[in-house]
Amino acid sequence: MGILFDRAAMSFQLDTPNTSYIMQVLEGGYLMHQYWGRRVSGLPAGCLSEGYPAPYKENSDVGGPRSFRLCELRSEFPGFDVTDFRTGAVRITGCDGTEATDFRYKSHEIIQGKTSIPGLPSAFANEREAQMLVIRLCDAASEMEALLWYTVFEKHDVIARHVTLVNRSDGKRQIKSLYSSSLDFAPGAYDLIHFYGTWANERIKERIPVPNAIMNISSNRGTSSHEHNPFVVLCDRKTTEDFGDTYGFNLIYSGCFSAVVEQGAASRPRVLMGLNPDGFSWELQPGERFDSPEAVMVYSCDGLNGMSQVFHRFYREHLINQRWSGKVRPILINNWEATYFNFDREKLMTLAKEAAELGIELFVLDDGWFGKRNWDNSSLGDWVANEKKLGGSMCELSKDIHALGMQFGLWFEPEMVSPDSDLYRAHPDWCLHCAGRTRSTIRNQLVLDLSRDEVVRYIIDSLIKLLSTCKIDYVKWDMNRSLTEVGSEAYPAEKQGEIRHRYILGLYRAMEEITKRFPNVLFESCASGGGRFDPGMLYYMPQIWTSDNTDAVQRLKIQYGTSYAYPSSTMSAHVSAVPNHQMYRSTPLQTRFHAALTGSFGYEMDLNKLTDEEKETIRAQVALYKEDRQLLVSGDFYRIKDPGEENECAWITVSRDKDRALACYFRMMSTMGEQSKYFKLKGLDPDKYYMDKDRRTVYKGDMLMYIGFPVPRLEGDYQSFVVRLSAVNKKEGEKQ
Ligand code: DGJ
Repeated sequence: MGILFDRAAMSFQLDTPNTSYIMQVLEGGYLMHQYWGRRVSGLPAGCLSEGYPAPYKENSDVGGPRSFRLCELRSEFPGFDVTDFRTGAVRITGCDGTEATDFRYKSHEIIQGKTSIPGLPSAFANEREAQMLVIRLCDAASEMEALLWYTVFEKHDVIARHVTLVNRSDGKRQIKSLYSSSLDFAPGAYDLIHFYGTWANERIKERIPVPNAIMNISSNRGTSSHEHNPFVVLCDRKTTEDFGDTYGFNLIYSGCFSAVVEQGAASRPRVLMGLNPDGFSWELQPGERFDSPEAVMVYSCDGLNGMSQVFHRFYREHLINQRWSGKVRPILINNWEATYFNFDREKLMTLAKEAAELGIELFVLDDGWFGKRNWDNSSLGDWVANEKKLGGSMCELSKDIHALGMQFGLWFEPEMVSPDSDLYRAHPDWCLHCAGRTRSTIRNQLVLDLSRDEVVRYIIDSLIKLLSTCKIDYVKWDMNRSLTEVGSEAYPAEKQGEIRHRYILGLYRAMEEITKRFPNVLFESCASGGGRFDPGMLYYMPQIWTSDNTDAVQRLKIQYGTSYAYPSSTMSAHVSAVPNHQMYRSTPLQTRFHAALTGSFGYEMDLNKLTDEEKETIRAQVALYKEDRQLLVSGDFYRIKDPGEENECAWITVSRDKDRALACYFRMMSTMGEQSKYFKLKGLDPDKYYMDKDRRTVYKGDMLMYIGFPVPRLEGDYQSFVVRLSAVNKKEGEKQ
C-alpha cells in the first residue's frame, strides 16, 4: 500500500496490493486521471503526459497558449459549463446565479489511517491499515474549495473516494450536484453491468455494451431502492466470471443515488457515482462544509468473481460491525409467513416450541404486535405492545421464549407513521409533506420527517425504551414505502432541496445511537425485502432481508445478483412453505434449504403444519447448517453457474485456507440427456485432497476444478444437492 507523489511530474500514484491508480496535475492546475488497473512500478516523471493534446503547446496562430477543450482529457473532478460538456461531478450556483465550476489544484496532504465522514457511514481502518490522500482544489470565481479524499488500504484492492465542499466566500452558495467519484476510462470496448428489479425481484443482473449515450442508473425514491442498486460494474467486453479487467463502483449510501455512465463517439466512458442531483440542492453559508457519501471502487484483473471477492472481504473487514462480521448468526424462525397479522400468544408459543424442538435458536416476532395493528392500516408510530393480543406484556413473552432456550427478536418500522395512530393525531406535522398537496399514502402509511431532530429523537427513545426494558436479542428494522411529497415544515423554501439527504442523515443518526447503545443486539435491515440493500445499511446492520420473495427458484437469481457486491453472510434467506406465497410454486424442501443455506439462515413457515418426515428433514438441515456456518459466514464465495442464463445455478464457499468448502448446485427444469454431467468447482487448492463428507469419497482439488464433480441423478424439477468438502492428508487421499 502506498501513496506516492512525484513533484517533478506533479503526479500521484496510489498503490494497493495489486492495483495502481494514477493522477497528474497539468499546467493550469487541471487534475487529470491517467490510469487505473494492474499494479505498475514507479513511473518515470511525466511519462503519461506524452501524447496528450495538451493546453501547454504554443498556438502559433495567436502566439499564446492554445485554447483546448477539457472534453479531450480525462478529468478527475470535472466541472460544469466549461469545455468538458459531459456530465460534471459538481455544480454550484455562485452569487451571480451562474453555474460554471472549474476546480484547479492548490495543494495536497497524505494522512496515515482513515478519517470518518461526519454524519455518514464510511469504511473504517486504523493507522496501519490505510492511507489517505486529500487533494485541495479551488474554483476561483465562486471561492469554493473541494477536498478530494482518496483512501488506499493495506490489504485490499480498493480505493475509497469522497468529496468535501467548503464555502470560502463571504456569500451563500447553492450546491446543485455533487458526485463522490468520477472516473474517465481509457478508450476501449466496455460492457456495463447493473442490477435492476422490483419488489420481490431485486438485483437482477443485466449486462450490456456501454452505449454511446448517457445512462443514469438511479433512485429518486428516498431509498437506494428495489429498482436499482448503487452498484455498477464496467468491464472489458471479454471479461468473464474469472478472467479480465473489471471495475466496480458501489456507494455507501441508502437514499437517492445516481450512477451515470456516459460515453460519446470516442469510446471513453465516464462513470460518476454519488447523490442523485434530481430534487437535490444544498445551501452553504460562508465557512460551511458539505460532505458527500463515500464511493468504493474496486479493480480486479480476475474477472467478476475476483472483483466480488475484493468487495466481500473489504466489507467484512472495513465496513460491517466487527462484533458481527465473520461471526456465526443464530438460526431464526420468523412468524410473518406463518401467521401474518393473525396471531395470539398461543399461536406464537406453539410455533416457538416447535422451532426450539428442531434446534432453531431465535424466535422473531414480526409485524402486528403493537397498538391496535391487526392489518397494515394502523398504529405505526405507536410502539407500545398490544398486551391483549400478546396475552401479557412483551417482557413476559420474551421471558417465555427465553425459557425455551431461544433468543427473542422483534420487528419495528421506526421511520413510518399510520394516519390512524396516536402519534399522527398528536403530531400531524411530523410526516414528510408539501403544504397544499395530497399526503400520498402507500401501504396506508406516511413517512416520518427524519430531517427534524425531534422526530429522530422520538424514534430513538421509542426503541431504547423497549430494548432496555425487555430482553430483545435481535431487531428487524423494516421500511415499507418510498418517499413522496418530500417537504418539511421545519425548513424554509430555499432549503427544501435538502430534505431527501437530511432524511438519510437523520436515519443514520438514529441507527448510530441505537446500535451503539445495544451492541449485543443483532440488527437486520429490511425495506419491503431488499429495497435498501446497500453498504450504508450494512455499516449499521450486518444482515439485510434480501427479498420478500421466498421462492427458492426466484431467490437464486436474486441472491446471485446480490452476490456481485455483497457477502453472502449479509443476505438473510429463509426456508418458507409451499406453494410459495409470492410465486405459488412448489419446490422440494431440500431445494429450499440449499437456496437459503449460504445466507443468514432461518425458517419462515408454520412448522406445526409439517409432517413428521418434514420435521426430521428440518432437524437434519439445522444440524448441517450448524456444522458449516462458520465456513459460510467467513469463506470466499465463487459464482459458478448463472441461473439467469442457464437451467442450472451453482456457487461455492471456500475457507481462506482452502481446507473446507461447501458447494450448492441447483437444476431447474428436468431435461433429457442429463447423464454424465459434471460441474466444475472453483477456488480449491489443486494439490489438496478433499473428502466429500456426505458421500465419503476423496477427490483431488484439480480434478474437482478441471474435470468437475459428477452430478448425481436428479429426479424431477427444481432439484439440488450440496457438496461438503474437507481437506484430508495425502495418504488418506491415496488410500481411496
Ligand atoms: C415487509 C417485510 O419485508 C416482511 O418481511 C414483513 O416484515 C412485512 N414487511 C411486515 O409488514
